Amino acid sequence: MARQQRTQVGIIGAGPAGLLLARLLKLNGIESVILEDRSRAYVEARIRAGVLEHGTVKLLEEAGVAERLHREGLVHEGVELGLDGGRFRIDLAGLTDKTITVYGQSEVVQDLIAARLAGDGPIVWEASDVALHDFEMDRPRLTYRAGGVDHELACDFIAGCDGFRGASRSSLPASRLRIYEQDYPFGWLGILADVPPCSEELIYASHPRGFALASMRSHTRSRYYIQCDRHEKLEDWPDDRLWDELKRRLGPDVAPRVTTGPALEKSITGLHSFVCLPMRHGRLFLAGDAAHIVPPTGAKGLNLAASDVHYLSRALVSHYARNDSTLLGAYSEQASARVWKAERFSWWLTLLMHKVHPDGSFAEQMQRAEIDYLLSSPAGQTVFAENYVGLPF
Ligand code: APR
Ligand code: PHB
Repeated sequence: MARQQRTQVGIIGAGPAGLLLARLLKLNGIESVILEDRSRAYVEARIRAGVLEHGTVKLLEEAGVAERLHREGLVHEGVELGLDGGRFRIDLAGLTDKTITVYGQSEVVQDLIAARLAGDGPIVWEASDVALHDFEMDRPRLTYRAGGVDHELACDFIAGCDGFRGASRSSLPASRLRIYEQDYPFGWLGILADVPPCSEELIYASHPRGFALASMRSHTRSRYYIQCDRHEKLEDWPDDRLWDELKRRLGPDVAPRVTTGPALEKSITGLHSFVCLPMRHGRLFLAGDAAHIVPPTGAKGLNLAASDVHYLSRALVSHYARNDSTLLGAYSEQASARVWKAERFSWWLTLLMHKVHPDGSFAEQMQRAEIDYLLSSPAGQTVFAENYVGLPF
């Protein structure tokens, strides 16, 4: 016999989407239980991107979890684009009056977990075999196993915040889903190292040998990426080879300022665009990577999780506080309208900056002309900047 519990919102996944949703609900007096299939240590150490849009920072402030972010995060007023070894700065603050904040996703997750565990409610770590039941009806349930015991959690709503490979989306019949996706024929090879960054601001560099990105986590920790073949093996990229290739692509101006050091982490990720609609199925609401994936160019993943959660928390609050379910009905449409715009920007920036076309082809010339245009047009830069700092939500 399963152990019985009850809550208002059953949340699957303790990534940024699930944790932030739980926090915003709690601030409005709504109870939830979070079921997470990994351990706390694993979730807190997971390395992901590190750029927070202006609106994400505001939402984290609203959630009361921005104190360390303001202390340790690096506020950036611009970003650089590199072409042919030259560099061009896009003045984000001047063009939009907004900035971005460089603060690792793992830090955001740690701050949210600390807030949750300081009295907001439970997170069930290492909850296995999470299964969703009856979400098309009035009384949804979640079943799972934890500590060798079977549990059943009755709830009013289920939030599927369990990432791209979670149980929520996969429990929906394919006939109910509209899937839109695109793969890219390359991947990103990333390196994290305790060395000072080569530049105060991020550099996105387009190079005939492939894209490179110089990013950071702090004044003493750098994060770099280079475009690679998606089937490439990590063993073929000893640190020295990676550093050499990175310097070549960042160009002669920047290369001498790249400090090398042993890799704390190295990984290869494929690039994928994916949207699954609708984001609501009865009393099940998908949010974050469970519903959509962007390629990492532009670092929109976490920021999209934040905007979904903004719409979803507002809708649930309106349901509980005013018995008004209009916003719940509008969730999929509202959240996905913003998702599509970030999908477009991530796709566009990916195709703009990577080595995509054969050398000497017409398409390659079109790509160069587009970058050139962007670098010479204040209007083009404004379009870039307003998308980069994040569209409103
Ligand atoms: N049961 C319970 N938990 C699960 C299950 C499952 N079957 N499957 C996955 N999870 C957990 C994962 O372990 C993870 O902690 O759900 C969480 C999902 O978190 P994320 O993958 O971080 O997704 P999300 O919260 O939507 O955040 C989106 O994070 O993944 C990055 O690139 C992504 O930056 C984006 C952001
Ligand atoms: C990162 O720091 O990991 C990062 C930054 C910007 C991106 C993607 C990733 O566009």
